[in-house]
Amino acid sequence: MNELKDKHIFLTGAARGIGATCARQFVAAGAKVLLVDRDEATLFDLARELNAEAEVVIPQVLDITDRTAVNAAVDKMVATWGRVDALVNNAGITRDALTAKMTEEAWDAVINVNLKAPMICTQAVFPHMKEQQNGVILNASSVSALGNVGQANYAASKSGLIGMTKTWALEFARYNIRVNAVAPGFTNTEMVQAIPEEVKAKIVAKVPLRRLATTDEIAAVYRFLASDSAAFITGQVLYIDGGLTCGF
Ligand SMILES: NC(=O)c1ccc[n+]([C@@H]2O[C@H](COP(=O)([O-])OP(=O)(O)OC[C@H]3O[C@@H](n4cnc5c(N)ncnc54)[C@H](O)[C@@H]3O)[C@@H](O)[C@H]2O)c1
Repeated sequence: MNELKDKHIFLTGAARGIGATCARQFVAAGAKVLLVDRDEATLFDLARELNAEAEVVIPQVLDITDRTAVNAAVDKMVATWGRVDALVNNAGITRDALTAKMTEEAWDAVINVNLKAPMICTQAVFPHMKEQQNGVILNASSVSALGNVGQANYAASKSGLIGMTKTWALEFARYNIRVNAVAPGFTNTEMVQAIPEEVKAKIVAKVPLRRLATTDEIAAVYRFLASDSAAFITGQVLYIDGGLTCGF
């Protein structure tokens, strides 16, 4: 309880799935959260729920590929709360296709949202974290970073994020800014619910723990990494995958 007291967190992709569960857990742990998403209706519903007793979140509708909008949101956060203690680069999309059939639009869309936007958000928060001499940046990678049929764009973005995580850990350590990546296995969100049942059954059969992750199990790792309990952890990738990537 209260492990994130006095933490002010910029969370992307907050409206649903893993992001919405992170928002709930961060608030329950005492944080204030800028909820960023492009899905206005869902975002405002979540903000109403979380602000029921006290104003602890601010909903911010924007597209994270829009550098001007991201910079303005970070400025607003700092003007309101005085600091930005953590950035959680959670928003991500898929546009799956076998490589022979993958369109340039599908490639660009995934790379822009999953890889370029975390760079934009990180560049926006970095000057504030540097001035504070304190900060945490968490990136949403995936087991697909290791390769997955039909996901050349997504796998490239998620393994690219691991490279960025380790680079930022090295570049930012002198300012006491920690950077880590969370790599979930298949998690029970809308992104995964869209997969046909027979395909999902084959996926689950490959997981040593024989089930999908819950969003709470993934959010708990973000919550820990954002907290001071993780003060000596930087440059790491935590696979939260029920053992899927073991045995190679
Ligand atoms: N669900 C899984 O099994 C799984 C596994 C590994 C990694 N991940 C990663 O975890 C993260 C969250 O996954 P999820 O399943 O909760 O996703 P989701 O699709 O349920 O939610 C993603 C959220 O991001 C928002 N978003 C997308 N593009 C945006 C943009 N350009 N600007 C602002 N907001 C945008 C969406 O509106 C949505 O609310 C993603 O990065 C995903 O790649 C998910």
